[in-house]
Amino acid sequence: MMEYRTLGRTDWQVSAISFGAWAVGGGSFGAVNEDESMAALHRALDRGVNFFDTADVYGEGRSERLFARLRKERREPFHVTTKAGRRLPQQTVAGFSRENLTTFIDDSLKNLGTEAIDLLQLHCPPQDLYYHPEVFGLLDDFVKQGKLRFYGVSVERVEEALKAIEYPGVQTVQIIYNIFRQRPADLLFTETRRRQVGILARVPLSSGMLAGKMTRASRFDTDDHRNFNREGASFDRGETFSGVPFEVGLQAVEELRALAPAGTTMAAFALRWILMNDAVTCVIPGAKRPAQVDENCAAADLPALSPATMAKVREIYERRIKRLVHQYW
Ligand SMILES: NC(=O)c1ccc[n+]([C@@H]2O[C@H](COP(=O)([O-])OP(=O)(O)OC[C@H]3O[C@@H](n4cnc5c(N)ncnc54)[C@H](OP(=O)(O)O)[C@@H]3O)[C@@H](O)[C@H]2O)c1
Repeated sequence: MMEYRTLGRTDWQVSAISFGAWAVGGGSFGAVNEDESMAALHRALDRGVNFFDTADVYGEGRSERLFARLRKERREPFHVTTKAGRRLPQQTVAGFSRENLTTFIDDSLKNLGTEAIDLLQLHCPPQDLYYHPEVFGLLDDFVKQGKLRFYGVSVERVEEALKAIEYPGVQTVQIIYNIFRQRPADLLFTETRRRQVGILARVPLSSGMLAGKMTRASRFDTDDHRNFNREGASFDRGETFSGVPFEVGLQAVEELRALAPAGTTMAAFALRWILMNDAVTCVIPGAKRPAQVDENCAAADLPALSPATMAKVREIYERRIKRLVHQYW
C-alpha cells in the first residue's frame, strides 16, 4: 500500500515513494530506451506513485516529453514537478531574468503538454541568487499569470535551503538526503517542519550504490555521470554517489547489508530509512525499468525500522562517511 504525505502548504497528497525522471531522459545514466522508460512510468502509476520529478535539461526535454505522453495514455491524476535554470550557458544570477525564465517556462509547458506547471523548482542556482528577492518576485508573478501553480528550489547545500525558505512563496526544497547524507536532518528539517515546507529527498539510493548491487568491478558507460563526474568534472561532485568515494561507499554498503530485515532488498531498506523522518515528503528514486519501480515501491510496505537499526546506521555513517561529506553540503 502506498503512503501519501502532504506536500508543503499545497494540500496535495503525494506518494511517499515518488519518481525521479533524470535517468529516463537519457544521456546521463547510460543507455535507456523509450519503451522501457514509459513502461517504468506506467508501473509507477499502477503502484500508486502520483508525483514525478523532472527537469528541462534531462535529455534536453526528452524526460519532460515522456509526461505529455503519459498524460495521454492514462486517466488518473498525477503531479509533475520540473526545474529551470540549467539551460543557461553560465550560472549567473543575472541569467535568472524575467525574459530567460519566461523562455524556460514556456518551453517546459510545451514539452509537458500542459497549461500550468504544477511545481517549478529553481535548478541548483548559484548561491548568491538566494540573496536576490527580486527573483522570487518573478516567480510570484508567474504564479499570478497562471503559468505556475507553485514553486520551490532544488539546492546543493543546507545553507542555501535555509536561506531559500525565508521566501514565503517557496513550497518545497529538493536536497540530497540519504544514508550517506544525513546533515539535512539536523537543522534544516526542524525549520522546514516549522514553516511547512515540503522536502523532496533526491539521490535517495546514492546514484544506485545503496541498492547494494555494485562491486569493485562495476563499470559505467562513457555517457554515465557515475563514470565521468566522480570528481565533479561536469557538475557538483556531490550529485554522483553523494560525493562519497566509490570504494568507501562499497565498504559501508557491505556493513549496511546486514541491517536490512530478512526478505528486504537494500534499495527498499535505504528508501525506508529516509521515510523514517517525517519532515520528508517523498523520496524520488530514479528508476529505469518497471522492476526497479516495483522494488522501490516495496519500501512503502515495510514496517518502521527499529531504534537499534537506526542507531546502527548512524554509527556506520559517523565512522565511515561523515568526515567526507557532512560539512561540505
Ligand atoms: N540538481 C538536481 O535537482 C538533481 C540532481 C540529481 C538528481 N535529481 C533528481 O533526483 C532523482 C533521483 O536521483 P538520481 O537518479 O540521481 O539517483 P538515485 O535515485 O539515488 O539512483 C538512481 C539509479 O539507481 C539505479 N536504481 C534505481 N532503482 C533501483 C533498484 N531498485 N535497484 C537497483 N538499482 C536501482 C538506477 O540506475 P542503474 O540501474 O543504471 O544502476 C537509477 O538510475 C533524479 O532522477 C532527479 O529527478 C535532481
